[in-house]
Amino acid sequence: MTKVKASLICCFFILFVQYSLAQQITKIAPGIWKIVYGEQEKIKPGDFKEKPLENELNKMAASENGPAFLKYIKYNVEQGGIVAELPLEDNERIYGFGLQVNTLEQRGMRREIRTNSWIVGNIGFTHAPLPFYISSKGYGVLVNSSRYVNFYLGSQHKLAKSISIKQQVEETSGTQSPGDSPSALYNKNYKSSNTVEIQVKGAKGIEMLVFDGPSMKNVIERYNLYSGGGALPPLWAMGFKYRAKNTFNATEVASFSSYFREKHIPCDMFGLEPGWQSAAYSCSYAWNKKNYPNPDSLLNIMHNRNYKLNLWEHAYVHPTSPIFDSIVPYSGDYAVWKGAVPDFVLPQTRKIFGDYHNKNFIQKGVAAFKLDECDAAYYHEANAEWSFPDIAKFPSGLDGEQMRQLLGYLYQKTILDEYQKVDLRTMLEVRASYLFAAPFNAALYTDMYDHASFVRMIVNSGFSGLNWSPEVRQTSSENDLIRRLQTTLMSSHMVVDCWFLKNLPWYQFNRDKNNNDELLPNRFELEAKAKNLIELRMSFIPYLYAAFAKYHYTGTPPFRALVLDYPDDKEVWKIDNQYMMGESIMCAPFIDGASTREIYFPEGIWYDFNSNKKYEGGKKYTITMTLDEIPMFVKEGTILPMAKPVEYITKETVLDVTCRLYGNCDGKTIQLFEDNGHTFDYTKNQFNWINLSWKKNKGTINRVGNYKKQHYKITSWQPIN
Ligand code: GAL
Repeated sequence: MTKVKASLICCFFILFVQYSLAQQITKIAPGIWKIVYGEQEKIKPGDFKEKPLENELNKMAASENGPAFLKYIKYNVEQGGIVAELPLEDNERIYGFGLQVNTLEQRGMRREIRTNSWIVGNIGFTHAPLPFYISSKGYGVLVNSSRYVNFYLGSQHKLAKSISIKQQVEETSGTQSPGDSPSALYNKNYKSSNTVEIQVKGAKGIEMLVFDGPSMKNVIERYNLYSGGGALPPLWAMGFKYRAKNTFNATEVASFSSYFREKHIPCDMFGLEPGWQSAAYSCSYAWNKKNYPNPDSLLNIMHNRNYKLNLWEHAYVHPTSPIFDSIVPYSGDYAVWKGAVPDFVLPQTRKIFGDYHNKNFIQKGVAAFKLDECDAAYYHEANAEWSFPDIAKFPSGLDGEQMRQLLGYLYQKTILDEYQKVDLRTMLEVRASYLFAAPFNAALYTDMYDHASFVRMIVNSGFSGLNWSPEVRQTSSENDLIRRLQTTLMSSHMVVDCWFLKNLPWYQFNRDKNNNDELLPNRFELEAKAKNLIELRMSFIPYLYAAFAKYHYTGTPPFRALVLDYPDDKEVWKIDNQYMMGESIMCAPFIDGASTREIYFPEGIWYDFNSNKKYEGGKKYTITMTLDEIPMFVKEGTILPMAKPVEYITKETVLDVTCRLYGNCDGKTIQLFEDNGHTFDYTKNQFNWINLSWKKNKGTINRVGNYKKQHYKITSWQPIN
């Protein structure tokens, strides 16, 4: 071979290697770019996602080329996995990573994206950890992987940048003092670095999706629309839900459920816990014949009382289950609680599991399920067999690590597909979720119970297309009970989960006393307070349902951090104990039974929902509220539709609505969403937007759409000054 030939071949080879190692950027939708580098994983979370809501996505303004940093991403394939390095600007902030528990603003943190039922320190484990963050610079980065993904958010400095470290050290203290405690010793008194390092464990390549803004709110809207649009639960799911003790038999369920109807306390869903099954850990998905000898008759009773029945289960299939033999060939090679772990990646598995649920429960009128334990629980308890190990193998080719991240998502999908087949919407409760779950009618819940974390989880859920349910169980005091009830009212899913309480929590909030029938002397007073709150939730149904419809069609999260609405107000950047509910209500829960707290009001005038007292925005106030007052504040210029509470929602329900006018509403309009509330007809254009406008002291109602029936009757307009 001549020298020329050899060097030509060499050049081609170098070019080929460089080309094949270069990242490839493709625009996949307006304002969304896919960046691919290196060898790709065979199965990715995006393979299971719903179709984007394209029409709505196309309506969003988007830049042509995306954020400038796309060109400056560096990659390294290391033994432990691929590492991508993305630049961070000095004043850039980071939010997101799914249902984070401990922290709102994430810069300076390490985030390990690993599904787990319990936080482990503050490293990022949660029921729904998403490898997806949103930057205050108005873009979002998502890693389309079900491997463990680690993010270093400016939390580590490379030695190569030692000059800047030197400068920083000089700027701050210069020399270090010895420190008299571990925290003083390890105190980080320098700035975070200007790099995000993303490591996909064990992978040789990476796929990232980058979502354009320009605002952070636009980023999450784009992500939600790309995922298939935000969830639109059935109308009944806006109401109140109760879950009864797991040991109750059919007679006890029937008699307990009459309580709400006799006392005229609204309740739409009644949930059964593990005891309904013949085996629950793992699950048989078959009625316990001794305690539930005639399930059809119980279903009849519950339906006649207008309850939606919800059944608890998890995905681990007990050897006595009717589906065990057929599902074993499509399951992982490790058991959980001696049960098979279905590989929901495979259509055959989804068919076996789905058909069985459809025929035996959905067609019989079971309206919803609580999908427990799909979060690979108790990772930190090394002796617990609460999940399959990372070394498990599944027939689809996934390993345990990948299945751990995907199980919650795939389990929801399997059940939701069955409801779709019978054209019924449901509202699941679920303990794990993952990327692209925005369209799922489901709310996440937990066994954790810290009230402040519950509120922070509402705030964080808005960055991730997730619904979060800060459920109420036992409490430490009457105040704690009422304040927690208020928080669950001000969330996407109002549920009291009494799976270990024999009596109502407002009859006795202490767990042991409750189960010993030691009822509180003032229980009826507490009952009246609980009833008021549940009725208030029912009054909010038109407002909340419209907020969910907007979530569906525009992607705007119904519950979201203040920083999404007021990005330029520095004061709200770190606020993790106040949030927006719908378009114009700010919630500021009182934690741990407190009656006084500090509340920050963003720009504008805000009305106390209880007293109509006005607060001028841009300031902090110390506010005291009695237990009869709920910490909600309404933005001036809001037309707030409030329904006369009903005890439950049916297909025929018509809600009487009063429009409250807060301050000057001249020229203002709000919209209500009206459809049949329980099927998917809205996807076939069977819905109305009702425009409620106020002009020159007169209200007008304008229905736009194809839906023929009416579920809202506007009865009055009520100015509030
Ligand atoms: C838990 C779940 C609780 C309850 C319980 C029943 O793991 O989080 O809400 O359902 O199981 O055993």
